[in-house]
Amino acid sequence: MGNNILITGAAGYIGGSVLANFISRTSGPIKAAQISAAVRSEEQAQKLSKLGVNVIQVDLVDETAVKEAVLRNEIDIVVHTASAIDGRIPSHLIKALGQRRKVSGEETYFIHSSITTLFSEEGGWPYGQVRDTDTVFEKEKEIGGPHPVRQTNILVTEQAKAHGVTSFNIVVPHVYGRGSGEWRKLSVSIPAYVRTSMAHKIVYKFDKDGHPPAAHISDLIELYALLVEKILQKERIPSGEEGYYFAMAHRTPWWAAMDRIAQSLHARGLVAESKPSIWPSDKMAADYLGFPVLYVRAMGTSSGDLVPVNAYRLGWKPKWDEEQFLASIDDEVQAVLELDTVKATIFDLLTSADK
Ligand SMILES: NC(=O)c1ccc[n+]([C@@H]2O[C@H](COP(=O)([O-])OP(=O)(O)OC[C@H]3O[C@@H](n4cnc5c(N)ncnc54)[C@H](OP(=O)(O)O)[C@@H]3O)[C@@H](O)[C@H]2O)c1
Repeated sequence: MGNNILITGAAGYIGGSVLANFISRTSGPIKAAQISAAVRSEEQAQKLSKLGVNVIQVDLVDETAVKEAVLRNEIDIVVHTASAIDGRIPSHLIKALGQRRKVSGEETYFIHSSITTLFSEEGGWPYGQVRDTDTVFEKEKEIGGPHPVRQTNILVTEQAKAHGVTSFNIVVPHVYGRGSGEWRKLSVSIPAYVRTSMAHKIVYKFDKDGHPPAAHISDLIELYALLVEKILQKERIPSGEEGYYFAMAHRTPWWAAMDRIAQSLHARGLVAESKPSIWPSDKMAADYLGFPVLYVRAMGTSSGDLVPVNAYRLGWKPKWDEEQFLASIDDEVQAVLELDTVKATIFDLLTSADK
């Protein structure tokens, strides 16, 4: 098979870190692969070109441009980190991979990135405990509904099947740690809390604690790499309806994390109190944090009884645990002070609907 890999969202936190990891390899199947990086803006394209990879500047909602990019660059594997929310993007990429398969006569692969919150009660999961080896796809279909991330999950599996593309779904938890990409180096949640707390000189937490799944960025990236290696080595691993990979290394104790954020910011003189207060309303939390109001409570208070099996069966060995996460909060604050230079766009599609 061909070994041309396209990473979407390559200027983003996760995609940029995947790219940095893949191009830093000195041996192994990924080292032998051709890596292309999809970015949205000219400025990002210029910055990433310095890495010596094939940079493709494309708006992924443009179906014709996506098809052209995939076929011209003979892409066999897409690692998609650009959006879990906008179903048009995976749809365009999967259709293009289907075309590429017809042209090359070789299998093509689509690795999607979705969100663990979907599998918590607050995220609309009514079934309680869930293993990624359960009939997750069937259950997502049963739930149906308007949640754009769930709709996109279903679309990915169904369209990949229809177009003869092998699909996988890395279900991404709360990710923390400094990214190693060239552009956006910060994650979503903790940087948003730190940024907001500094702007308003107060740390808020929700009135209910949550313990959602989590992974350090370096551990998450190793899972993407492992999956791509298995594909390149033609190993048979769960895919399609069975291809969910819960990327959970440990849990995030939100209240304990908020306590540490408050202490860290207070010690720097950046907030008035060393303890968090309770958000007066979910609406205010959404406005201040820049999160979609419909999902802010799930993002801040959900836990979810997820049991990750598939990633560990692949051989995933995350190094970071809950204790290390809590011990790293001061550096999370420091990272925002040093690296918060690029506006987050991840929720634009949903927050524009809020307004
Ligand atoms: N970070 C987390 O903690 C976390 C947790 C769970 C799930 N996830 C999911 O993982 C994925 C990646 O997250 P992230 O934190 O890496 O987000 P991110 O930093 O915002 O990266 C996403 C990248 O995709 C690009 N992009 C979006 N729409 C595009 C389009 N139409 N055409 C071309 N490029 C486009 C963005 O471009 P611009 O730079 O131009 O905006 C951005 O560079 C997302 O789907 C997210 O929902 C993340």
